[in-house]
Amino acid sequence: MKKLLIIVLAALSLCAGCQNDPYGYVIKDGRIVYKTPERPADQQSMIGFAADPIENVRVGFIGLGMRGPGAVYRFTNIPGTTVVALCDLLPERVASAQKILVDAGLPAAAEYSGEDGWKALCERDDIDLVYLAVPWQHHTEFAVYAMECGHHVAIEVPAATNVKECWALVNTSERTRKHCMMLENCVYDDFELTSLNMAQQGVFGEVVHVEGAYIHNLDPYWDQYQGDWRMIYNKAHHGDVYPTHGLGPIAQVLNIHRGDKMDYLVSMDTKSWHGSELSKQRYGDDGTYANGDHTGTYIRTRNGKTIEVQHDTYNPRPYSRMYQITGTKGFANKYPNSNFAVGNGNVNKNLSIYDLDAENYVSEAVRNALMKEYQHPITKEGSLLETAKKIGGHGGMDFIMDYRLVYCLHRGLPLDQDVYDAAEWSCLTELTEVSINHGSMPVEFPDFTRGEWNRLDGVHFAL
Ligand SMILES: NC(=O)c1ccc[n+]([C@@H]2O[C@H](COP(=O)([O-])OP(=O)(O)OC[C@H]3O[C@@H](n4cnc5c(N)ncnc54)[C@H](O)[C@@H]3O)[C@@H](O)[C@H]2O)c1
Repeated sequence: MKKLLIIVLAALSLCAGCQNDPYGYVIKDGRIVYKTPERPADQQSMIGFAADPIENVRVGFIGLGMRGPGAVYRFTNIPGTTVVALCDLLPERVASAQKILVDAGLPAAAEYSGEDGWKALCERDDIDLVYLAVPWQHHTEFAVYAMECGHHVAIEVPAATNVKECWALVNTSERTRKHCMMLENCVYDDFELTSLNMAQQGVFGEVVHVEGAYIHNLDPYWDQYQGDWRMIYNKAHHGDVYPTHGLGPIAQVLNIHRGDKMDYLVSMDTKSWHGSELSKQRYGDDGTYANGDHTGTYIRTRNGKTIEVQHDTYNPRPYSRMYQITGTKGFANKYPNSNFAVGNGNVNKNLSIYDLDAENYVSEAVRNALMKEYQHPITKEGSLLETAKKIGGHGGMDFIMDYRLVYCLHRGLPLDQDVYDAAEWSCLTELTEVSINHGSMPVEFPDFTRGEWNRLDGVHFAL
């Protein structure tokens, strides 16, 4: 009874602040309902948006810590691009990224550093794309400014840390008519792409349930984040603070905002043990740490499908993004077994494989045959898979992501991931926290497409 009273009081007090917020929520019939504000008159939908083709993509990189320099290196291997400018808070990081260009025999890029270097980079008029690999706390501010300055933006994951920031990305992209793509690399892994293709060709029958996760013990990394940004953020927030690696690939399988929509979620976390211990050791404090060791979220879609997403960056488990697809005719699973369970019925007849039963994983030979038969069309371009493996970046998926971004910009095609994907996948950061703060109350998603989630027929990568 006491707990219920606390939840009701918390809900009322939080809600009071949201009533007048156009991007906030109200509590209605035991559910938290996010508002979807009207689209302002000077904005247009970005669904299916294609910019004019860009023959040579001129890029400015901001954020050259653990993640950024790998992206600079990948771009030195993508024809039709020029690295025009490099920026980091710390000048020595800019200097070492400059060396990547020198080693590749390319001209040096302009250098920016310090607190406001990023602004000066954005204000250049010889840049087409601003590529952001900075702490989460800066993603939206930098991306909005870059679009306002007339550039397309690519933002590391998650693109935004709350619903208001998600709307800022959507509104700015719609108003400036600039691409805003989140760099969700996990959708480009070979197994995920092949499984997506299999799902689209009906091999799994009707896909009814999907699962994804970010399970990665970050103990070896906490000290490496510049200015401690990641632990500072996690210490202050409940919820799935890093949802998009798990959610992105499975959202594509369910055609989210291309025929289906995430309707509502329910989230729950454990209390913090490992995080709390880290906090005590690190800050010498009492171990107050909001982010639970394990956070689990269930989402129901408009078409009656379910999605499970998990987050645990604390405990000593083997790395896992889970990636599971359950359909009426078959199953795919990435971690720990990267394999399929399918019956004969829905597999292409020209494969000549028989006696499959859907209760067991297929043999290695059949798995290889399926991977070949259903290789995703985007990876069939030239020797892209081999090149990607050679250049690297999480086994090659990072290279395929950057290559596809440039491929679409060169040809003036819609990008594989649009600003609505960025907003929908990233908004879990706030929605899960709000659900947890209200005793796992269901939370209805805002509709970032403003009613257009059913306009496109499935996920299609432009070729
Ligand atoms: N997609 C993936 O697989 C993947 C993997 C790792 C990290 N990431 C993402 O990449 C981003 C960066 O993560 P990281 O691991 O490289 O962190 P990091 O701390 O190593 O790097 C962040 C960099 O940003 C710089 N920076 C901070 N404030 C700045 C400012 N005002 N102006 C310019 N530069 C500034 C820092 O000096 C640092 O070099 C995060 O969003 C993270 O989630 C994605």
